Amino acid sequence: MKISPIIKGVVAKNAHPAGCAAAVKQQIDFVKHAPQVAQNRQRVLILGASSGFGLASRIALTFGGAKSDTIGVSFEKGPSEKGTGTAGWYNNIAFKQYAASEGHIAINIVGDAFSQETRNAVNQAIDTYFGGQVDLLIYSLATGIRPKPNSEEWWRSSIKTVETPFSGLTADLEHDRLIETHVTAASEQEIDDTVKVMGGEDWQQWVSLLLAKGQCAHQFQTLAYSYIGPELTYPIYHHGTLGLAKQHLHRTANTINEQLTPLNGSAYIAVCKALVTKASVFIPAFSPYLLALFKVMKAKGLHEGCIEQMHRLFYHKFQPNSLVPLSDDSRLIRLDDWELQEEVQQEVRALYRKITPLNFQEISDYEGVKRDFLALNGFAIDGVDYGV
Ligand code: NAI
Repeated sequence: MKISPIIKGVVAKNAHPAGCAAAVKQQIDFVKHAPQVAQNRQRVLILGASSGFGLASRIALTFGGAKSDTIGVSFEKGPSEKGTGTAGWYNNIAFKQYAASEGHIAINIVGDAFSQETRNAVNQAIDTYFGGQVDLLIYSLATGIRPKPNSEEWWRSSIKTVETPFSGLTADLEHDRLIETHVTAASEQEIDDTVKVMGGEDWQQWVSLLLAKGQCAHQFQTLAYSYIGPELTYPIYHHGTLGLAKQHLHRTANTINEQLTPLNGSAYIAVCKALVTKASVFIPAFSPYLLALFKVMKAKGLHEGCIEQMHRLFYHKFQPNSLVPLSDDSRLIRLDDWELQEEVQQEVRALYRKITPLNFQEISDYEGVKRDFLALNGFAIDGVDYGV
């Protein structure tokens, strides 16, 4: 059956199974041909494993030298009479097939990572497939809602500013246009709820659960992913609700790190580069920055996608055979170092100021951003026959 992309605003409504598999294969091929990670990370649990940074971590660790076995948790939908299902569904299937064909364990658990049911399924999978312990936990969930425990209610995140409202342009990927958006300031409640959803509480609960079950191996390590960005985006990100949630996540890394001392374990945050993922295109008034950043970083030969970032994390930010990464004083591993170089940011600021709804297709990298967005859902992938 021929499948064409259906986009509503910035949300993809369908996915192309063969295209998703091809995109996973491209990432596998990239890490196979890149310098190989020397550190063996045998048993890895990834929360948020089906797309973006979580999937790229899984691929980098399995096929990039560490030869990891993985349990991946994600929240995805399979095909039904209502539609094709989500890209992550097909990414999971493709990843498992490629991993199994090379002898790696790859268990997919599809369910709500916040639920007790999913936690039980993970505990059971660790016992069944990993001999009862995990060496590395990667926390890469990106979601707008988190269920309140023992309740029918939810915390909902709000992507808003704090105190001062902000106006800016947002890409409408459905109609290929930039539209003016006004981002209002969050209430105290909205800030608290966003911290509940995207802060560190759930990460710490996962680590506490694994510790309580005796499922953290000696020298157990955990990593979570974050974004800071340049001053240009502070109003909408770093100083906004998402930034406050991320700051909570960063503080949680220190708490977890202390919790892991008896195991000689550690917790770090990898601060990544701004990229096109299902989660990031959703941030209002962020698009002009992304469009300018892609243009500048590509022209300078510094552009990376999720897989290049995750390969750099495990290959360059960890010394060979060491679990101690190159990090700053706050336990942050700066994968945004290239993005934040002053010469990059100078050019980004200059281009950012010139972007308008009339010229953005000519002067920015809208084409690249749109192609990446389509690729997330298995479309616009080289070598895939979309005619059938
Ligand atoms: P993504 O949307 O590509 O992936 C999110 C993953 O979380 C998917 O596997 C999804 O299935 C899973 N997920 C969501 N809700 C779930 C639930 N309730 N239960 C189980 N699984 C669930 O997101 P992306 O962009 O890879 O984000 C991952 C992390 O990286 C986030 O913490 C994000 O803030 C961070 N990050 C993202 C950047 C970007 O530009 N995309 C930049 C820097 C950091």
